[in-house]
Amino acid sequence: MNLQNSQDYYGKVLTGSADLQTDACCTAEAPPPAVMAAMRNVHEDVRARYYGCGLVAPQAIEGCHILDLGSGSGQDAYILAQMVGENGSVTGVDATPEQLAVARQHEEWHRERFGYARSNVRFLEGDIEKLGDLDLAEGSFDVIVSNCVINLVADKRAVFEAAFRMLKDGGELYFSDVYSERRVPEHLLNDPVLHGECLSGALYWGDFIALAKAAGFADPRLVTSRPLGIENAEVAEKLDKIAFHSATYRLFKLPDLDSQCEDYGQAVRYKGTVVGEERAFLLDGHHRIEAGRMFPICGNSWKMLADTRFAPHFEFFGDFSTHYGVFPDCGIAVPFGADGIASDMANTACC
Ligand SMILES: C[S@@+](CC[C@H](N)C(=O)[O-])C[C@H]1O[C@@H](n2cnc3c(N)ncnc32)[C@H](O)[C@@H]1O
Repeated sequence: MNLQNSQDYYGKVLTGSADLQTDACCTAEAPPPAVMAAMRNVHEDVRARYYGCGLVAPQAIEGCHILDLGSGSGQDAYILAQMVGENGSVTGVDATPEQLAVARQHEEWHRERFGYARSNVRFLEGDIEKLGDLDLAEGSFDVIVSNCVINLVADKRAVFEAAFRMLKDGGELYFSDVYSERRVPEHLLNDPVLHGECLSGALYWGDFIALAKAAGFADPRLVTSRPLGIENAEVAEKLDKIAFHSATYRLFKLPDLDSQCEDYGQAVRYKGTVVGEERAFLLDGHHRIEAGRMFPICGNSWKMLADTRFAPHFEFFGDFSTHYGVFPDCGIAVPFGADGIASDMANTACC
């Protein structure tokens, strides 16, 4: 399925979230209070055309420069614009003129609402498979986000490779998308509704992990995951019981990560200083790091904290001088259980 289908679906077929035929492009997680507050400052026209499938709210982003791949009508961009503050910025890229028009139309309204002297948001028209065609400097973004977009893209490898190039060292791709428990048969990809609803283009999670690693993201971390309920009987029948999850991953651009979690006898202590996560810092679904407590950690997780914007929020104990073998039960990357059963992180509620 080509880009034209996405442009038609999001520009002409859908006029708002209520037109969606499944819950694939809807967000189930209750946002944290700071995100809820920021959402109340987003124009209703922008919110009405939100089609994200997860919560794209990475922590500690004040002053960060953010790239939003497939920014749509701009809801995430305008939320993040408040969280990065006036010294940070958000660049949204989308290929659908109608979505971009909504996002751009309200730029000045948001600047005033946020009380900023200058807008810190811009929206560019472009294909995220060809990010190199846009005037964006490589290595210039602290964080790249994306919400329910990469499944729609034909050349997913190109997107992951470009995201890796666009990130600064220590930066991360923090994104929500739809994944399938098995490879979706080719013929379903040509169904404009299944594709537009973010289902038939979804990556099989195993292929996603391989693609992410090949692009340079050595240790993908799963933050949250929930099964999708396909209530539309016609859609469900076409999909022939393939299970889908919406999942949020974080992929750090860090050189020299081990290919799996290795134990060097290290530990960290969280200072409780990240706004909104004062009691515990959530690195991923497997690492909820309570403030004040010694927390044994693998070498990769150590680097995700020590060599990123999170470093000032932690004390670090140990080094890489002694290797004690594999760190047991560490970074998990799979949104489905080993036999395709939903993982226990799943939240079955939906919008
Ligand atoms: C499901 S919507 C999500 C939009 C937005 N992230 C949100 O949360 O509301 C998918 C968006 O991806 C955009 N899109 C799809 N393929 C694209 C591509 N190759 N390049 C840029 N944008 C693309 C569509 O135009 C649409 O706005």
